[in-house]
Amino acid sequence: MSLKEDVGIKAASYVKNGMTVGLGTGSTAYYMIKEIGRKVKEENLNVVGVPTSSTSKKQAEEMGIPIKSIDEVDKVDVIIDGADEISADFQGMKGGGAALLFEKIVATYTDQVIWIVDESKMVDKLGKFPLPVEVVPYGQQQLFQLFAKKGYKPSFRMDQKAKKVTDSGHSIIDLHLEQIDHPEQLAKELDETVGVIDHGLFLNMVNTVIIGRPSGAEIISD
Ligand code: A5P
Repeated sequence: MSLKEDVGIKAASYVKNGMTVGLGTGSTAYYMIKEIGRKVKEENLNVVGVPTSSTSKKQAEEMGIPIKSIDEVDKVDVIIDGADEISADFQGMKGGGAALLFEKIVATYTDQVIWIVDESKMVDKLGKFPLPVEVVPYGQQQLFQLFAKKGYKPSFRMDQKAKKVTDSGHSIIDLHLEQIDHPEQLAKELDETVGVIDHGLFLNMVNTVIIGRPSGAEIISD
């Protein structure tokens, strides 16, 4: 069993009868959705899933997990999602799978946020992984140039030969920063930049991290 599968299955045990569950996106979240689907089928687990992307929605539907959109539920009890990097002080970088906007919206309205990662995602400081910035297509070249001028080394996320289009119809500019010394400052700057919809810095958000290690999963909770 891979480390991703191990943490995906472990995380599914946080999901109890009657819960509304945010379903993250990515190759690690895939195993969590699969395990929840198994429990729905084989153990009559009664849950509602709130998918964070078209990919997770499709998988949940295929697995027979009842789903609702974030606007159809009162609140979400727990979200289980992957991450691209988690720093030593438990700040997160997400969006490698282009689902950052819905992931952040669902996490914002959720009681307990759980991230599941293999140990390769644990870093001292964020930034080796390119920071995804979701932008409105109108004016995106101007934003690109602005980021280039600031030395952020931008690149457009591509899908084959065309620019990647997110589930909400936006583009993604990845910033190749190498090291982010002041994530809060950068998040504020991006939040205040016209044309930026969201970014992959998920700060002060996580409650529980499940880290897959060859010696066994490590669980860190606040
Ligand atoms: C999706 O946009 C991302 O935030 C994913 O959660 C993240 O990229 C982790 O994906 P993997 O589990 O595939 O590494």
